[in-house]
Amino acid sequence: MTAKQIRYGMVGGSLNAFIGEVHRKAIAFDPRAELTAGSFSTMEATNKETAEAYGLDPARVYKDYKDMAKAESAREDGIDFVSICTPNYLHYDIAKAFLQNGIHVVCEKPLCFEVEEALELEQLAAANNLLFGVTYTYTGYTMSKVMKDMIAGGKIGNIVAVNAEYVQDWLIDDLMPGAAADQNLSVWRKDPKYSGIANSVGDIGTHIENYVHYVTGLKIKRLLATTNTYGHALDLNANMIVEYDNGITGAYWTSQIASGHLNGLVVRVFGDKGSLEWQQEQPDYLRFTPKGGATQIISRGTGYIEEAAGAVSRLPAGHPEGLYVAFANIYQNFISALIDVKHGSYGGKADFPTVSDGVSGVRFVHAVVKSAQNNSGWVEL
Ligand SMILES: NC(=O)c1ccc[n+]([C@@H]2O[C@H](COP(=O)([O-])OP(=O)(O)OC[C@H]3O[C@@H](n4cnc5c(N)ncnc54)[C@H](O)[C@@H]3O)[C@@H](O)[C@H]2O)c1
Repeated sequence: MTAKQIRYGMVGGSLNAFIGEVHRKAIAFDPRAELTAGSFSTMEATNKETAEAYGLDPARVYKDYKDMAKAESAREDGIDFVSICTPNYLHYDIAKAFLQNGIHVVCEKPLCFEVEEALELEQLAAANNLLFGVTYTYTGYTMSKVMKDMIAGGKIGNIVAVNAEYVQDWLIDDLMPGAAADQNLSVWRKDPKYSGIANSVGDIGTHIENYVHYVTGLKIKRLLATTNTYGHALDLNANMIVEYDNGITGAYWTSQIASGHLNGLVVRVFGDKGSLEWQQEQPDYLRFTPKGGATQIISRGTGYIEEAAGAVSRLPAGHPEGLYVAFANIYQNFISALIDVKHGSYGGKADFPTVSDGVSGVRFVHAVVKSAQNNSGWVEL
């Protein structure tokens, strides 16, 4: 069997974790890449068990990500990129270790805790000519790309307002005083030590911030916010008004206590010639309402959607694609760019979220928290 073109390693994402397994499955959609190294957990048995499940060479299973970065960089057949799927507090240190060893990076969001750290990672990647992807998953869906192309193509005219929410209810029991300790593996999100200065705003608010920027091109100039902690250390609910660089405003809402809502990312963009709405729980469809006309439901996999965006569609219309494919589309574009880098033919145009998007996310989180702590005053980004 010939070796694959791209070898990758993973930090975090042991078998019992959430998102690392999604990353591995998404990368496996691409026949050009294979998992060859990892440091999946600090628990030795869990690390070993995950590596064995993927048939890794035991010599390439590391107790510590720092050893992994050094050893992989020294090997002739070392990994081309690392995928970082740990809780937030480790992203900066891990990304830095791999960049310093000349290894390309894909990292989960939010990128890191501090704006200075984010800028340092951006600078390190640029200085070392390394690709750095950040997995803002929802931009990977076909209909997100169709939405972007339709807005750029003038289908809704000039943007006049944005309204977006990302609401869940998995922490609703936190509203009960003295609720029993949560056994859910994801509870680190509520702890500032692991999560950073925000919970819902960092975990799901950053997706809104990135998604709106992706589909509209708008950049936030300033924002004001309120956050609700309900007696906990970090926010479980937040409301934000953002003003973009063209003076238009948008309203964002994040929540983890919105009863009945599971993973409700909804983005509505209004223009002077119509509007577009995308809901991540029905990701293959887009609602388009031309001004004064009937609402149309645009479907993925059809002949009438924009050709370029439609190119990432993998299944015929009516067969739901879903989250794995959204991740796979991001990785497919990252892997294509990486192959171009290896062949010296990379033009620098990345159709995947980059470290610069990660920097914007960290700025956004800090601005929201600062505004909420300052009587909801405007904070410049
Ligand atoms: N893009 C998305 O849509 C999306 C979705 C879910 C989670 N995330 C992000 O992914 C990251 C992980 O979230 P999760 O829900 O998978 O968390 P999780 O708690 O389920 O998994 C964390 C993993 O990191 C491992 N780990 C912790 N410390 C480690 C270390 N020092 N070395 C090696 N491995 C270590 C754990 O063993 C575990 O396997 C977070 O930053 C989160 O914000 C993103």
